[in-house]
Amino acid sequence: MAILVTGGAGYIGSHTCVELLNEGYEIVVVDNFSNSSQEALRRVTEITGKSFKLYQLDLLDKEKLEAVFEENKIEAVIHFAGFKAVGESVELPLKYYQNNITGTIVLCELMKKYHVKNLVFSSSATVYGMTDHVPIREDAQLGAVNPYGRTKLMIEEILRDLHHSDQTWNIAILRYFNPIGAHASGRIGEDPTGIPNNLMPYISQVAVGKLERLTIHGNDYQTKDGTGIRDYIHIVDLALGHIKALEKIKRRSGGVDAYNLGTGKGYSVSEMVDAFEKASGKIISTTISRRRPGDAATCYANPTKAKEQLDWHAVRGIDEMCQDSWRWQQNNPTGYVKKVNKESRTPVQSNAAVFFNV
Ligand code: UD1
Repeated sequence: MAILVTGGAGYIGSHTCVELLNEGYEIVVVDNFSNSSQEALRRVTEITGKSFKLYQLDLLDKEKLEAVFEENKIEAVIHFAGFKAVGESVELPLKYYQNNITGTIVLCELMKKYHVKNLVFSSSATVYGMTDHVPIREDAQLGAVNPYGRTKLMIEEILRDLHHSDQTWNIAILRYFNPIGAHASGRIGEDPTGIPNNLMPYISQVAVGKLERLTIHGNDYQTKDGTGIRDYIHIVDLALGHIKALEKIKRRSGGVDAYNLGTGKGYSVSEMVDAFEKASGKIISTTISRRRPGDAATCYANPTKAKEQLDWHAVRGIDEMCQDSWRWQQNNPTGYVKKVNKESRTPVQSNAAVFFNV
């Protein structure tokens, strides 16, 4: 029996694949590489010494996706695939609704048809909107403030309706706070396309000399130093949260639950700059601008539910997060080479799948 991982080549997906393989799970990855690289998956085999099957396909292509369910014995799905750029979602809302929501519906239809009713869904703290009531618990009021966030919120509601219609579905909704860092090997990490929107990849690119200076979006918030506060969580801790969620839903015979994956600690932008300077030994030049529209002053999790029900909590601290981000950035200043390069093993082609062999 295998775990199907959609969007397995992405930042969170690739780190979760590593932890799944380390735990001895068989995995089948589907990805359309719209915002990720096959090289990330090659490195997953390199890190773990384990092989797995990859299908390059789009979730909207129901016929191709159905072949994956036909050809493999899937016991559960971890669903990462989706667009995630907030700004782009404001410009192109239909693209986001079509891809994220329709893609999820197609996936769930096939899961239903093939009696696969174990699902871990990749949601986001963005579903809490602009709340300043921290720490945020899962039962806080929901309300996204942009189309990307609304796709996450709508999918959560679709999944709750699905479970309501058939209570044998086992669904864990994971609401991520701010994932940063990289695998300790420095071989996989975050590889944003173009100029990064998020804080940590931006800081890393300033440190490595690709960008000149960080613009701090606002220093007039009601926070300790005026800059925005977030709950940064190490990507490996986040990936391990998926394993715990998977174990939980496999143990029970039906349910739908949302869990915060965060550390419960908030760090300001200025503190993150300081921590990164310490980890890298580089000076991060900064400039202050006005607040970024849609940004809350403070956002951090109450992670108690995940601790109590999943037996999971984050263990990696801010220094380790910055050291690992820096190692990845320093070793891969241009991210992944966007195609499988010469030194990599050529994947063996089959009719439908590519096998990543060790
Ligand atoms: C952002 C998204 C959120 C998404 C999450 C994914 C927005 C408004 N929110 O969250 O929907 O789920 O990424 O990881 O885009 N900052 C700077 N300068 C920069 C970049 C960021 O000062 O160049 C500040 C921000 O104002 C914020 C903090 O750094 O206070 C973190 O920002 P970011 O990494 O973009 O994450 P979020 O805004 O929390």
